[in-house]
This record gives sequence, structure tokens and C-alpha cells, in this order.
Amino acid sequence: MITRSLVIASLMLSASMSVSIAADESVEVMHYWTSGSEAAGLNVLKQLLEKRGVTWSDSPVAGGTGMNMVQVLRARIASDTAPSAAQMHAQQVQAWGAEGVLTDLSDLAKKQGWDKIIAPELLPLISYDGKIVAVPVNVHRSNWLWYNKKVFDKVGVQPPATWEEFNQVSEKLLAAGITPLALGGQPWQEADLFENVVLGIGGADFYRKVMVEQDEASIKSETMTKVFDQLRIMNKFVDANYPGRDWNLATQMLIKGEAGMQIMGDWAKGELSLAKMEPNVDYGCSPAPGTKGDYVWLTDNFGFFTTKDANREKGQMEMASAILDKDFQQAFNIKKGSIPSRVDVSMDKFDYCGKAAYADRAEAQKTNTSLPSLAHNAASNAAKTGVFLDVVSTFFETKDMTPQQAIDQLVAGLKSAGQ
Ligand code: GAL
Repeated sequence: MITRSLVIASLMLSASMSVSIAADESVEVMHYWTSGSEAAGLNVLKQLLEKRGVTWSDSPVAGGTGMNMVQVLRARIASDTAPSAAQMHAQQVQAWGAEGVLTDLSDLAKKQGWDKIIAPELLPLISYDGKIVAVPVNVHRSNWLWYNKKVFDKVGVQPPATWEEFNQVSEKLLAAGITPLALGGQPWQEADLFENVVLGIGGADFYRKVMVEQDEASIKSETMTKVFDQLRIMNKFVDANYPGRDWNLATQMLIKGEAGMQIMGDWAKGELSLAKMEPNVDYGCSPAPGTKGDYVWLTDNFGFFTTKDANREKGQMEMASAILDKDFQQAFNIKKGSIPSRVDVSMDKFDYCGKAAYADRAEAQKTNTSLPSLAHNAASNAAKTGVFLDVVSTFFETKDMTPQQAIDQLVAGLKSAGQ
């Protein structure tokens, strides 16, 4: 009897050991993709990894553009309990790279020829100090205007090509009892609006001077006053419940026809597709006012945190390689609303707006009007981006603040952020 139970016990022990070995080859993934379409996209990756024998341990931190995740991740790294992987924008890859906490993916990249399959402009963004330290999942465009086509047809308006037209269209929507602009009052969403107004009013060179170079003369210019004037006008085009609203709830307003327009990156299209909305039938996509010919880009990447655990590192490498799987790139980016980070994925199955994004990016690259997004950590470092977010959001929410006060605060804030 004793012998039998010992045998069973030892069998159980070895079974649990093999389970635990397999379970060790797991990845804890920290991300902020918690909306319906984002979760659906991530699920494709989760399933692919599970097929490859890697267990997924989910660590979501809700809050658009990672507004809450950054602090959580920093705390985890500081307490030496970093997750296996975390979602990061282009500038964040550089920042974590500089802190020396990212796993070197160079050998894998070499073996799989990443330099031949990844869009060439993305390679410097995932490299730090000559090493590949992250893997890009996609490219998103932030200068989009989404509009509810049925609402537009009913009110008899066309998508606005300039900010002046935007104001006229908005007045008509208001008169018809429809909220013109679906917005959530969160600093990053207001900054998203700001970058579109900067580009639409000032053009590509002005945008670069302000967002990338933080050129003081441009920030103090008359053009910048016009940008803030336009933002002030837009106060009346959002509904009373906008404070704190998440971006995907704003997209729902568009879906339901409660709002006419949303200015948001093409992750909004992920939600529109999930709701079975058809481009050019139920909704339309056009470049944000005044930004035709420009492509404001941002990328989502995953970086992996250094570990001494060989199994954990194996899981990280498997995840990095799965992200560049060609079929995954197609399935994921169709759900997410973005375009692939690989150059060789067919766009045939993408919808009208996805194809337009792809073509517009190619064109903008030729004309040097492909620009990095400020609100999505592609244009500038965290300290300077934070100054823009604070000032723009305070301006939008403080009705008696003047453009001059906003400009003065920007100049002072950027100086102390090390302009
Ligand atoms: C962006 C991110 C997108 C999308 C969006 C809303 O910054 O790059 O993938 O998730 O925020 O959270």
C-alpha cells in the first residue's frame, strides 16, 4: 500500500514538475489594450503563442495610450519584478534602452533577417546603442477624422478639409441637435487634438519645429496663437459629459450617431469594425482638417525585460518572433485598425481606410510629410511631452485662459524640462 501511494505520489510530483517546467516558459505581458478591438487583436497573439507552447499571463493596466501603465511598469522595474514584456511607444523604447533594462534581441533579429522584413524607418526606433531591443507590432496614424456618414448625409454636410470648414460643419451639427465632436477630456486626447490643429494650421515644417525641436520662436509665433484660438472654439463642440471619458466610449458616440465626428488615431477604426460599421457606408475616414498629404505616425512595440531565467528568456524570444509572423501581422492589424510593421504583408484584405493609410504613408514619405506623433510618444521625450499635455489640457479645460498664457506656460515648462 505504502509503496503504491509512494509511486503515485512520485508520479504526481514528476507530473507537476513537467507542468511547472512548461509553465515557466510563459510570458507576463503588460499592456493597455483593454477596449474590445484591442483585446481582440491581442487575443490573436495569445493564441499563436499558446500554439507555440508559451503560456500567456495577462497584466492589463487600463487607460488610453498607457496613461496609467507607465507608472505601474516603472514601479515593477524598480522593485525588480519586471514583467516579461511590455507595450511601448518609439520614444519609450529609447528611454528603457538608455536605462539598460531591455533584453537584447539582436541575435534573433539577425537569424530571422528583421532588417529585410521590418519597414526600414522603424529599425532605428527599435535599436539602442547598436542593439535591437524591441519588436514593432504595427504603425498607426493619428491624423484621422472619422465621421458618421448617415448623420452627415442627414444634416447635409461634407467632411471638412480645413479647420474653418470644421467649425462650419460643427455649427450645423449643433443646430441639428448632434454633438459635433466626440471627445474624452483626458490630457492625451486633448493633446491629440492639439497636434492635429498644429499641423492643420501650421503645416508640416511648423509641426516639426514645435513638436520635435521645441523651437521657441515657433512656439511664440502668431501661428501658435491661432492654434489655441481654434482649440478654444472647439470647447463648444464637445458635450457636457466629456471630462474623463475614454476614447472608445467617444467612438461609441460616433457609432450610435450621437456625435458627428471624432479626431483620433486609427485604433478608433478597430472599434468601428468591431461594431460592424462599414467604411464609406456607415462611416467615413478623411485626414484631419488641413492635414491632407501628411501622415502622423506612431508605432506600438513590445520590449522585453532582462532576466536570468533561461525559460523566461525563451518565452520572450518566442513572443518577439510571433509578433513578426506574417499571418499574425495581417490578422492583428486588421482588427487593430493599424497597418503592418512588416513590408511584405498583403493589404488586399484590409478595408478602404486601411488601404488609404498605407498609400498615404508611402506618399508622405516621398514628400517628407511623414511626421511623428507627440501625443503618442514618437516626437519627443517624456518630460517635454508631459509639458505639452499639461498645458494643452489645462487650456482646454480653463475657459478664461488666454492663448498667450498657454504659450508662456509652454515656453517656461519646456525650459525646465530641458529644452
Ligand atoms: C495609442 C496606442 C494604440 C491605442 C491607443 C489607445 O497610444 O498606440 O495602440 O491603443 O493608444 O489606447
